[in-house]
Amino acid sequence: MARMTQLLIFAGSTRQQSFNRKLAHATAAIARDAGAQVTLLELSDFNIPLYNADLEAQGTPADVIRLKEVLWQHPAWIICSPEYNGSYTALLKNTIDWASSPVKGNPDWQDGGKSFRGKVVGMLSASPGALGGLRSQSHLAPLLINAECWLAPKAFALGSAGSAFDDNGALLQQTHSDRVRAVVDQVLWAASRLQPAAGQ
Ligand SMILES: Cc1cc2nc3c(=O)[nH]c(=O)nc-3n(C[C@H](O)[C@H](O)[C@H](O)COP(=O)(O)O)c2cc1C
Repeated sequence: MARMTQLLIFAGSTRQQSFNRKLAHATAAIARDAGAQVTLLELSDFNIPLYNADLEAQGTPADVIRLKEVLWQHPAWIICSPEYNGSYTALLKNTIDWASSPVKGNPDWQDGGKSFRGKVVGMLSASPGALGGLRSQSHLAPLLINAECWLAPKAFALGSAGSAFDDNGALLQQTHSDRVRAVVDQVLWAASRLQPAAGQ
């Protein structure tokens, strides 16, 4: 790793026993071992309603602004995406929709793309199924590219997630840890090179 990069990790699930939250935590530990400065974000810490432009016209919720700031501050992200009906979750879409929406009358956030443009993003997913939520990544990828993120070519989908973690939430199989580490390394590598341009 050429320089210390601020890495943001979050999951598209708020479920208590979420496999993707577990994967986010395991990824954070792996990234810290790799020397990264990690922020582990829980979407449940943000009070963000279902997007509605009429609601937004009354004022963007304070937690949306807070989320925009956190996203903007981190040049590198890893998203752990659950799969619902072959796609990513409504929670993830709703979060991204709010975070990418311009805030009228707020000079800091009039540019809706500010929190996304230039970010290096690694995609992970976890599912009890055999494909590990891979199809959620195939839908998430074009959304992120549309938002002008740089996607890491390496990604990992953790199948049979119900038996993939130990009681402390660590990944049981070394091959799984290695796949996560490869994504982490690639995201940090690319972000350290693009960092001067991130956020512009
Ligand atoms: C509405 C719904 C649709 C689902 N569709 C899929 C699916 O298409 N593919 C899959 O692998 N799992 C699917 N699942 C199972 C989820 O992968 C499983 O609930 C998983 O635990 C969700 O992620 P989480 O543990 O991070 O909350 C679905 C679950 C729900 C509730």
